Amino acid sequence: MKTIAVINQKGGVGKTTTAVNLSAALAAAGRQVCLIDIDPQAHATLHVGVEPSSQEGTVYDVLTGDARLEGVWQQAGENLWVVPSHIDLAATEIDLANIVGREVILRDKLAAMPGRFDYVIVDCPPSLGLLTINALSAVDEVLLPLQPHFLALHGLSKLLETIDLVARRLNDRLRLTGVVLCLYESGTRLATEVTGDVETFFHESRGTGHVWSEARIFMTRVRRNIRLAEAPSFGQTIFQYAPDSNGAADYRDLAGELLTLESQQALVA
Ligand SMILES: Nc1ncnc2c1ncn2[C@@H]1O[C@H](COP(=O)(O)OP(=O)(O)O)[C@@H](O)[C@H]1O
Ligand SMILES: [Mg+2]
Repeated sequence: MKTIAVINQKGGVGKTTTAVNLSAALAAAGRQVCLIDIDPQAHATLHVGVEPSSQEGTVYDVLTGDARLEGVWQQAGENLWVVPSHIDLAATEIDLANIVGREVILRDKLAAMPGRFDYVIVDCPPSLGLLTINALSAVDEVLLPLQPHFLALHGLSKLLETIDLVARRLNDRLRLTGVVLCLYESGTRLATEVTGDVETFFHESRGTGHVWSEARIFMTRVRRNIRLAEAPSFGQTIFQYAPDSNGAADYRDLAGELLTLESQQALVA
């Protein structure tokens, strides 16, 4: 089972769009996928057409109560399940303030979950608080969506430090797998320049032994595409809403890159 957290403490960079449509693309390729929405805004939940409801059980009950992941997940499509979020989750930080081991609750719940999935993808909130730490403690891999504008690298060191700290203290399997350039404006000088800066940064980290030293920049650039922005309000993934759009093509390609990695790793193992 591959476990991937989609993180960036900035909002609006394409985390949710990537978590949802990558999950859907992997599901369409025949993988069993569980999307865990750990953002109180519940955008990923809504995006796959599930109405957040505290009666049905959500990730909040998993983190703060006895609920198990398999007790709250809902089927959101063929091969695709979602562990829904709810605005209640915004209080988690306070609710868990005095709980010992509050950083590793999701890890323990995930370990206790029946092993029926090929991929678990966690959509994180735009912060490096307790919810994101729970995601980082629970997964093996981090996927970092970046929007190529002039502040793209700003805040990156804080993010990498956080991943590094979690790797050292809580989860020694954790690695930054790669950077996905989102909201990409093909043909603009800015996009080319920022992409160059990001490539240089990660190239210079090669072999340094950091958790990000093997990170790749995925070849797929997710282009700015209005269909990707429209799909969430219909509670549909891009493959349901506009399967012939550039957005669908880009997320299909990104999933293809992950599946290629998967088969290379299977050869090595
Ligand atoms: N490639 C894209 N093209 C056009 N709009 C996009 C694209 N990716 C994301 N969006 C839109 O940009 C906004 C922010 O994206 P989102 O995935 O919600 O970011 P985050 O989860 O990082 O806050 C949303 O309205 C989303 O629909
Ligand atoms: Mg989001």
